[in-house]
Amino acid sequence: MNISIFGLGYVGCVSIGCLAKNGHHVIGVDVSQIKVDQINAGKATIIEKDIDIIIAEQRAKGNIEATTDSKEAILKTDITIVAVGTPSSDKGHLNLNYIFKVAEVAGLAIKEKKDFHIIAIRSTIMPGTCDKFAAIVEDASGKKRNVDFAIVDNPEFLREGTAVEDYYNPPLTLIGSDNSGAAETVASLYRQLPGEVIITDLKIAEIMKYVNNTFHALKISFGNEIGNICSEMGIDSHKVMEIFCKDKQLNISPYYFKPGFAFGGSCLPKDLKGLQTLAHDLYVSVPVIDSINKSNELQITRAVDIIQHTQKKRIGFLGLSFKAGTDDLRNSPAVAVVETLLGKGYSVKIYDKHIHLSNLTGTNKVYIDHHIPHLSKLMVKDAEDLIKDVDVIVINNREQEYLDVLEKAGDTAMIVDMVRLPEAIRNKNNYTGINW
Ligand SMILES: NC(=O)c1ccc[n+]([C@@H]2O[C@H](COP(=O)([O-])OP(=O)(O)OC[C@H]3O[C@@H](n4cnc5c(N)ncnc54)[C@H](O)[C@@H]3O)[C@@H](O)[C@H]2O)c1
Repeated sequence: MNISIFGLGYVGCVSIGCLAKNGHHVIGVDVSQIKVDQINAGKATIIEKDIDIIIAEQRAKGNIEATTDSKEAILKTDITIVAVGTPSSDKGHLNLNYIFKVAEVAGLAIKEKKDFHIIAIRSTIMPGTCDKFAAIVEDASGKKRNVDFAIVDNPEFLREGTAVEDYYNPPLTLIGSDNSGAAETVASLYRQLPGEVIITDLKIAEIMKYVNNTFHALKISFGNEIGNICSEMGIDSHKVMEIFCKDKQLNISPYYFKPGFAFGGSCLPKDLKGLQTLAHDLYVSVPVIDSINKSNELQITRAVDIIQHTQKKRIGFLGLSFKAGTDDLRNSPAVAVVETLLGKGYSVKIYDKHIHLSNLTGTNKVYIDHHIPHLSKLMVKDAEDLIKDVDVIVINNREQEYLDVLEKAGDTAMIVDMVRLPEAIRNKNNYTGINW
């Protein structure tokens, strides 16, 4: 395929070399004459393992060339890959000026082009940028998106230092698009590489790089804070994290990664507090770990806000325990929501199939007596009765009995979902999810 690549920095230089090595003819475009001259002289524009050899070889074979003439590059190619810089502004916002400049020049070239043109944005961009890019191309070209050209987002996951190796071994290839033909064409550039090719919505692809890199930063800071606590106590932090990483069921796994309601129960809040106190007593500052509970409390506030936003006063809860399949009410975030609503004068009714007040004992009973002493007056014996009597149903545990009742319920009561109910219920008009 004939491909043009805008931006001959780290991402562009690796892409031009590796795509040429995989059999494509690639034209590099940059505003820097020096970088263009380097590529045309068979030299890499960056220091990176193996890329100098690849660029020299591919230039000698005539598979790559470079120019500052963006129009000519677009007219001669079928796909344009955008790999220009997206630095932070002084205030921390993303500076998309270089991206939108490319959109303008691409539009002027597409104006003169007869064939359909595909633009794949490889730079890291904020959700919504592809749509703005397409609007600029439409304005400059007078042509129509998805009739004359298409925009896809194709974020790059390589790391400097191992960029060529990462190019050939991506964890996955991600393509966001509103045009299946264009997505398939871009996917075909990477089909011979290992890793799943995922084609998804534009905005999902656009936000992915931020989600990944923020998580990587969080992992590093978490590991460092654990290391700082361990080293103060003479514990080998590397052995600790080695064992931590061996648990592939709960630690290094998809478990606990579903957006939803706050955590609770007898263990997570208690042990988090325990580690915070340990760090405090050792005079070790752990801001990442210290912020976890604050974030959790905000999730409880978010639930209260959503319920208040319905402007209804009679609220029913399906499930009160901290998770499905248990009667444990200790540190259940739903208890905190009920307590807050009662304090604000709401009428609350609760059905929980596992909670029989006469059976509650020990710390579980002490906890609930302290937080909602008159719980017995709020509990009802039947889920169907509860639904008839309230304006808002808050579903707090994913129990089959609750799902069955909700399916039968009419549309009069609003549903506030903490557990991600099945799609048929999520599609109802009277429905709100906590964060989806
Ligand atoms: N460097 C990385 O490890 C890495 C990894 C993944 C994603 N990314 C993302 O990829 C994008 C590019 O990063 P980079 O590190 O390669 O940037 P870079 O600064 O090394 O290179 C960007 C190049 O774009 C050129 N350029 C600017 N405006 C242009 C225009 N209008 N037309 C043509 N060329 C133009 C610049 O002259 C420069 O050579 C960024 O969005 C970055 O966040 C970078």
